Amino acid sequence: MRVVFLGAPGVGKGTQADRIAAQYRLAKISTGDLLREAVRARTLLGLEAKSYMDQGKLVPDAVVIGLVREKLADPSCAAGFVLDGFPRTAPQAEDLGTVLMSKAMALDRVVNFQVPREDVVRRLSGRRSCLKCQATFHVGFAKPKADGICDRCGELLVQRSDDQREAIETRLKVYDEQTASLVRYYDERQLLSSLDASGSVDEVFQHLSRVLTPYQMR
Ligand code: AP5
Repeated sequence: MRVVFLGAPGVGKGTQADRIAAQYRLAKISTGDLLREAVRARTLLGLEAKSYMDQGKLVPDAVVIGLVREKLADPSCAAGFVLDGFPRTAPQAEDLGTVLMSKAMALDRVVNFQVPREDVVRRLSGRRSCLKCQATFHVGFAKPKADGICDRCGELLVQRSDDQREAIETRLKVYDEQTASLVRYYDERQLLSSLDASGSVDEVFQHLSRVLTPYQMR
């Protein structure tokens, strides 16, 4: 199964991508996670990406496209993948189509996560993330077992620099201006499924599993 998760920042794409990847044994490709790893490792790419990310702006297409092409070439993606946070611009979507075609592959589904704006802001401003393993929690909706400590690896949880109010506003504006048009792009290609992602994590997962079930055996 080859799927893309589309939607505004904070709609829960990453949370569900982890669960779907585990359920269907798919590779999870999250450009946000890849970029944060590069920032943490202080690579040249990470240093270039950091200033864009801190402000809530998109990292230049060429950088992100390079990262995704590298990942898609990895054998772990041969059995299927879930793309979380990519594509986010028209050139990224075009490039993804070209790369997949060159491998005689195609997307099965693009799922558009929909959550009211006020809920998105609540989800983002309460998010706590593990810098080491990138697991995410929420101070109200998805609390870790021990306060401020990652359930998965035991590291301290922090608030992402782009989860401050000003950066959240920029990210939502950037989404409206540069990413929202991809909904129409994939709808025109008959690949789009819209998902009401406003319920609990478990409810959204059940709903999403139902949307993806027809594609798991292809
Ligand atoms: P990225 O990490 O992709 O950020 P994003 O798209 O803004 O998405 P988020 O990770 O903020 O939200 P999400 O939808 O994954 O929600 P989550 O599951 O965490 O990108 C960060 C930056 O990297 C970008 O701003 C840009 O600079 C750069 N970048 C990345 N990709 C790029 C690209 N393709 N091109 C250019 N630049 C790129 O959930 C959010 C919170 O809500 C969590 O606390 C979670 O616990 C909670 N939650 C989840 N589901 C529920 C639920 N059902 N109910 C209640 N709470 C929930």
